Amino acid sequence: MTPKSPKKVLVAVAWPYAQGPLHLGHIAGAYLPPDIFARYRRSIGDDVLMVSGSDVHGTPITVKADEMGVTPQEIVNKYHPEFLTYWDDLDIQFDLFTTTGTDTHRRVVQDFFMTLLKNGYLYPDTTEQYFDESEHRFLPDRYVEGTCPHCGYEFARGDQCDNCGKTLDPTDLLDPKSKLSGTTPVLKETEHYYWKLSEFNEPLLEWLKTREGWRSHVLNFAIGMVTDGLHDRAFTRDLEWGVPLPVDDIGQGKSIYVWWEAVMGYLSAPQEWAELRGTPDAWREWWQNPEAESYYFVGKDNIPFHAIYWPALIMGHGDLNLPTDVPANQYVTFGGLKASKSRGVGRPLSWYLERFESDSLRYAIAQSLPESNDTDLADDEIARRINDELVATWGNLVNRVVSMTGRYFEGVVPTPRALTQADETLLAARQMTLDDVGSLIGSVKLRAGIARAMQAAQEANAYLNDAAPWTSAKTDLERTGTTLWVAIQSIAASAVAFSPYLPATSRSVLAALGALSDDEFVPWLAPKIEAGVELKPLPPLFSKVALDPADFDSEG
Ligand code: MF3
Ligand code: ZN
Repeated sequence: MTPKSPKKVLVAVAWPYAQGPLHLGHIAGAYLPPDIFARYRRSIGDDVLMVSGSDVHGTPITVKADEMGVTPQEIVNKYHPEFLTYWDDLDIQFDLFTTTGTDTHRRVVQDFFMTLLKNGYLYPDTTEQYFDESEHRFLPDRYVEGTCPHCGYEFARGDQCDNCGKTLDPTDLLDPKSKLSGTTPVLKETEHYYWKLSEFNEPLLEWLKTREGWRSHVLNFAIGMVTDGLHDRAFTRDLEWGVPLPVDDIGQGKSIYVWWEAVMGYLSAPQEWAELRGTPDAWREWWQNPEAESYYFVGKDNIPFHAIYWPALIMGHGDLNLPTDVPANQYVTFGGLKASKSRGVGRPLSWYLERFESDSLRYAIAQSLPESNDTDLADDEIARRINDELVATWGNLVNRVVSMTGRYFEGVVPTPRALTQADETLLAARQMTLDDVGSLIGSVKLRAGIARAMQAAQEANAYLNDAAPWTSAKTDLERTGTTLWVAIQSIAASAVAFSPYLPATSRSVLAALGALSDDEFVPWLAPKIEAGVELKPLPPLFSKVALDPADFDSEG
């Protein structure tokens, strides 16, 4: 594999609303995949910038704050730090996980607004919006609920239908009700800035049609939406909690619509990152260098915002790179069921973290990523994958090789003698495994990537069973030594292949083999473990898990 020159890779991760705990579906949908991808790209020497942050504005936060009887900031102060603990606990490694509440974000968003205005894509207009007469308030977005005009779902919100995924305006809803008072809102005139989204139908369609390698469900959804025709959209809201407008000609109490400013976080977070390291212009390499790549990791409900609206904003702004890919995931179901607290979807992540080690959980999730279809991730299936696959295959392989090296060679890597065909085959498989896993991760087929890495571990186990070094040890210790030397080379390569998925245990294996460089990242090469190296003690990589039947008791 000839190394290409390092690329700048922006790994852009959906910004979670700081208004509730995340669950396993979020991790499988949007947070583990970018970490696997970013780790691999760092391993091949690319310059990765992985950013995201808490989405702290808009009605998702204020509605929750109203419900709890606290300020929006108090809601943010509770969940943003909680998100940081998830990344820590799951070894999800951001270069920056910030919030949309920073000064940098406000400045970048307001500059973006001024650029769109100057480029002729924003215009003020008077429109009618829902107003709650008993509360004397306009009702943007989630303050209105009603029936979806597209699919008939009765609990659609004013910003989006969670059933069919269509984005909505409150006035699209049938039978609208105020979330504040339950009353039927009335229409009232208000002034807003509008975004000339209609001008982007053609350029978006042209751009989408030339995308190569995108997941078909993403591309089809995006092309379908643009083909249906995009209309101008309100750019602002009658809401104090958000990024204020940089102009004051449409009255007080307005802010920029949360979605339009949240996606601008992909531009502001790299700027904040660059400021924090004292090189304020460094972000430009990821945004303005035409060779730079950008991957947006999101769940399927976010496809319109990342494959259509954000690209349209970028086009309207100019001088910024369009997304390379938007590898959006489908949904995770739990035991065949959608969100349900008692059945797992609503279970806090801490429930899983108390029961499973980080790499074990990462393994089970990676094997079930909903990349092209909704995918089930039941608790007993997680346990089965950990026990019957991870522990039984990869954990057992490493354990066998290390303990036999201890037993027969006092823990010192033996010197190989004449190689058999089977030895040569296993040695040759190392590079093939790394090439295959690498190209699968590179094309964001992460589920196939981990399956391919497991296949290599299975082959090494089969090799060991055939070679039976415990038998040859009685008659031919040189043969046993050669077998173990070959197996050690194989597990070293497998540890590299697993490293984007199982970062902690891969590092433990490489450290035990004396093959962990000082680099922060594991280079994507099969390490050579020299004869004579003394192995360091290596406790079992993974523990078997036993779920308590009481864990499955319904909480109602
Ligand atoms: N906060 C949104 C959600 O949780 C996602 C925002 S992604 C962003 O669904 F890019 F717009 F920030
Ligand atoms: Zn719907």
